[in-house]
Amino acid sequence: MVKIGSTTIPTKIFLAPMAGCSDLSFRLIAREHGAKFCFFEMVDCNSITYGPKRKVRSILRTTEEDAPIAAQLLGRNPDAMLRGAKEILSIVKVSFLDINAACPAKKVIKKRAGSYLLKDPQELCGILKTLTAALPVPVTVKIRTGYDEPDIKGIAGLAKNCEKSGAKALFVHGRTRLQGYMGEVDYRAIKAVKESVNIPVFGSGNIFSLTLAKKMLDETGCDGILVARGALGNPWIIKQIEDFLFNGRLDPLIDFETKKNVLKKHLAYMERFKESTPSGKAGHMRKVMLWYLRGFPKASRIREKVSLVNSYEKMIELIGQLKNGGRGE
Ligand SMILES: Cc1cc2nc3c(=O)[nH]c(=O)nc-3n(C[C@H](O)[C@H](O)[C@H](O)COP(=O)(O)O)c2cc1C
Repeated sequence: MVKIGSTTIPTKIFLAPMAGCSDLSFRLIAREHGAKFCFFEMVDCNSITYGPKRKVRSILRTTEEDAPIAAQLLGRNPDAMLRGAKEILSIVKVSFLDINAACPAKKVIKKRAGSYLLKDPQELCGILKTLTAALPVPVTVKIRTGYDEPDIKGIAGLAKNCEKSGAKALFVHGRTRLQGYMGEVDYRAIKAVKESVNIPVFGSGNIFSLTLAKKMLDETGCDGILVARGALGNPWIIKQIEDFLFNGRLDPLIDFETKKNVLKKHLAYMERFKESTPSGKAGHMRKVMLWYLRGFPKASRIREKVSLVNSYEKMIELIGQLKNGGRGE
């Protein structure tokens, strides 16, 4: 359990925001297997105000079961961010709203948003002050451990300033903007952030296993963790981490048939909920299939077959043909 502002969240293991991945289908499958708190994919504040409404509505698509949840906003200008935040709150109910100061994508940096805000603390704190003064929900920030170089002192100072500007929690990806998603996770920097503030701090980075989840908590003293790539094709991971951390229990390995059935259900949710062109939808489905099929026998031959299927029905048929041991091809 973690308290963010006055909101109590029933877990400290969150499913991370992942653009292009953490859509409604992904979250529903994760929740059915134990995730208790999720994020929507990030929303660009300008796309809410000026972009096609269809796209934002599709990102913010949700159901009764898909709660509690947080939204994340990308942008730079405090007024535009506030307009975007209000629009989000008019569409969905969220436990808190997060500001993205972590995205390393070139097109985002070009607009001086995402992790660029690490270089521009005044702007970041300006956004925070504007949002916290006007919104009825807690505001949080996702940061990285530095821009080009790790900067422990700098990031701890920035964290303190975020807290002073009204942030009610911090999510820290333990890599710099330059590292992207590769390389070592800087546990020392996350620990320094944790020690510099009095609000909850969540660690993110390489939560791929139960031991890496424990390592994040032990080495940083953080209040909670974000599970990101470790949950792709592996919706069981959050419950497994909780069982390991809190009950000392190692859950049995997920067998082949269970994986196949959950993949089928995941695709069925996508067929029902994903709003895209037929070819866009098939592309998303193929991506999801590959997440689950990692480590299957004869994975490279299966991947080849996956690349050729272009409809939901054919994908279900292909999954039905997969046999443990690689036969049935
Ligand atoms: C495909 C992808 C999309 C992501 N999108 C977002 C995003 O929209 N907002 C965000 O704050 N972080 C985003 N992240 C970062 C993750 O939330 C997480 O901090 C990062 O992947 C490190 O965790 P991991 O090493 O356990 O994957 C994304 C990561 C991936 C792989």
